[in-house]
Amino acid sequence: MTSKEIRKSFIDFFKSKNHKFVKSAPVAPLDDPTLLFTNAGMNQFKSIFLGESNSKLSRAVNSQKCIRVSGKHNDLEEVGVDAFHHTFFEMLGNWSFGDYYKKEAIKWSWELLTEVWGLDKNRLWISVYINDDETYDIWEQETDINPDRILRFGNDENFWEMGETGPCGPCSEIHYYIGDDEFNQSSSGVNKDSDYWELWNLVFIQNERLKDGRLVELPKKHVDTGAGLERIASVLQNKVSNYETDLFMPIMLEIEKISSSKIGGNVIPYQVISDHIRMLTFSISDGAIPSNEGRGYVLRRILRRASRFGREIGINEPFLYKLVDTVSDIMSDDYKEIYDNRLLIIETIKREEINFNKTLDRGLRHFDTILNSTSGKVIPGESAFKLFDTYGFPIDLTKLLAAENKLEVDEKTFNDLMIKQKDRAKKTGKFNMSFSELNWTIIKDSPDSNFIGYQYIKSISSVIKYSKYNDKIFIILDNTPFYAESGGQI
Ligand code: SER
Repeated sequence: MTSKEIRKSFIDFFKSKNHKFVKSAPVAPLDDPTLLFTNAGMNQFKSIFLGESNSKLSRAVNSQKCIRVSGKHNDLEEVGVDAFHHTFFEMLGNWSFGDYYKKEAIKWSWELLTEVWGLDKNRLWISVYINDDETYDIWEQETDINPDRILRFGNDENFWEMGETGPCGPCSEIHYYIGDDEFNQSSSGVNKDSDYWELWNLVFIQNERLKDGRLVELPKKHVDTGAGLERIASVLQNKVSNYETDLFMPIMLEIEKISSSKIGGNVIPYQVISDHIRMLTFSISDGAIPSNEGRGYVLRRILRRASRFGREIGINEPFLYKLVDTVSDIMSDDYKEIYDNRLLIIETIKREEINFNKTLDRGLRHFDTILNSTSGKVIPGESAFKLFDTYGFPIDLTKLLAAENKLEVDEKTFNDLMIKQKDRAKKTGKFNMSFSELNWTIIKDSPDSNFIGYQYIKSISSVIKYSKYNDKIFIILDNTPFYAESGGQI
């Protein structure tokens, strides 16, 4: 089955069980300050779970665009290194809002996996929350799974929470053994060994985590499930890596064309780049842009990480933007916005790459100098700060380079230096005097400066008045393209 067919068959299956299809929410949430990025299908239904909405929706199904690079759910360290974690992925989900509960959720997931998609029952494993006997019994009595394959785990594995606060509850996960030898499976591999993949999580939302950490009961019980499309595609397409599926392979091949290497060699740069370009494409399409703060800084870090991995396979020019059309070809049938916004996405990525490219090679050379002069196991925070300040290396890029050389980074000193720099910037950004204190020398008697910044970024202008204050000189121009607010001068 192609990934498109899998996505569709999931949605059709739940439509046949009276679920309403709901479009994916944007990856950059517009109305939830607790989240930088949409990290699960249930995010857009949060207010229904919490009883704060008068929505009449009782069952829903969708395929949600998700990003997990920050906050409670952050998979970045594994991305590209293993075969099945991503910054951006699609979560297939079905929901009950105070309607059906555990029994239907479990029976339907089993039916879809084993009857519709025909997965081998002898490779599937189930985990349930440690004291959730009800869920255990449903798996045992209502499905034909071998009871030896139902395992119990505690809070870390089987209690799902959206973030520091919000709806949550015990969950039951469905894992699949992807190893070569079916007879070499063991319950001790589940949640430990990378041959056991979590395919689907069934969460029984019955609690809310409050700001003070308390867990309270919700007025109603709900179902929230999430299955990773990329992993399911990998299993159904008989692959052992998501990157070998039709969701990634065209991107990998395009990177191969641009680079001077072959995929068969070091596969990690290919995997990182093809993962990151999907994340960048979808987040820019949904309104995020690379910047120095918050969500935008996450984008900047991801782009710089991908850009540097390009160097590892001999790509020295900006190239990420060239992959956007391939992402669009793969995804636009289901996410039309990617096609509609592709010119903006390409332009945004290209501009950001060009900027970083200016300092990347010098930064990498500087990193080599640091390596040569580091005697212990830790790169000094001052060096990491210089890489950040002068060459634009986000700390996680420096950490990645360090880890490749089996070194760590003194993050504490780095963070202290960052705080100091921010304080300095705050101080120098402020005028410590009032304009009324200035003693103006008037050259030309004209009350206002004419702002021409919407039309021009350069102008030949005349000084109409000036003033000296300590070691500073202030000038007022007749025409100016400079936006007269703090920070707007670029
Ligand atoms: N919210 C759960 C998860 O993200 C199930 O969708 O795993």
